[in-house]
Amino acid sequence: MEEKLTDEEKEYYSLTRKAFAALAPFYDIIAAPFSGVRDRVVSLTNAQEGAKILDVATGTGKQAFAFAEKGYETVGIDLSNAMLNVAKKKSKFKNARFEVADATNLPFEDNSFDVSCVSFALHDMPLSIRKKVLREMVRVTRTKGIIVVADYGLPESKISKFLIYHFTVLFEAEYYKDFVRSDLEPLLNRNRIKIIEKVTVLHGAGRILKGINNKL
Ligand SMILES: C[S@@+](CC[C@H](N)C(=O)[O-])C[C@H]1O[C@@H](n2cnc3c(N)ncnc32)[C@H](O)[C@@H]1O
Repeated sequence: MEEKLTDEEKEYYSLTRKAFAALAPFYDIIAAPFSGVRDRVVSLTNAQEGAKILDVATGTGKQAFAFAEKGYETVGIDLSNAMLNVAKKKSKFKNARFEVADATNLPFEDNSFDVSCVSFALHDMPLSIRKKVLREMVRVTRTKGIIVVADYGLPESKISKFLIYHFTVLFEAEYYKDFVRSDLEPLLNRNRIKIIEKVTVLHGAGRILKGINNKL
């Protein structure tokens, strides 16, 4: 049975579709500061040869390409056709494919992937959507598979925290404020994702969390 959307969720879908349709041609330039994070995600994941990887909310496919370049069978999904069209145009990998899909309702069977990853997308979502996305990632990733989240964070130091927070709110969507103050790690734990490694990136403005899918 389909879940009824709240007003906040309806607004999020409408804003997301419009925003990324407009941003798609420039997104790679805007996201250039994240470039160094892509290979860090792949190496932290440390997936076995032949692993099947899902990149959730892949956008223009940068993270998916970093996995595909290492030979992994990679699928990238996104809500935005415009973002995926950029990914498809750029792709030179036979082992990377892209599909339009909603991350809250993934069109894959349970346990289809060894690894699932979501990079710089959860901060763009209201909490209720974040929860649904994580639930779906857990479902489609095999038990004891790897789930990786790369996204914004805040450094420990009060001064750096203040500066990074006030700088990032200037260009990020409304949900960033709630996301960056929220307890991402307990949220992953509640979804049976056991965090086994954490790395700070972007001078403290970002983090990569690697977890094991501990679903039963
Ligand atoms: C900031 S971009 C990040 C793209 C990419 N992961 C990266 O690291 O550059 C956020 C992406 O999330 C996608 N997105 C947002 N909500 C989504 C949902 N419910 N299902 C699938 N994709 C979604 C947007 O369309 C957009 O392409």
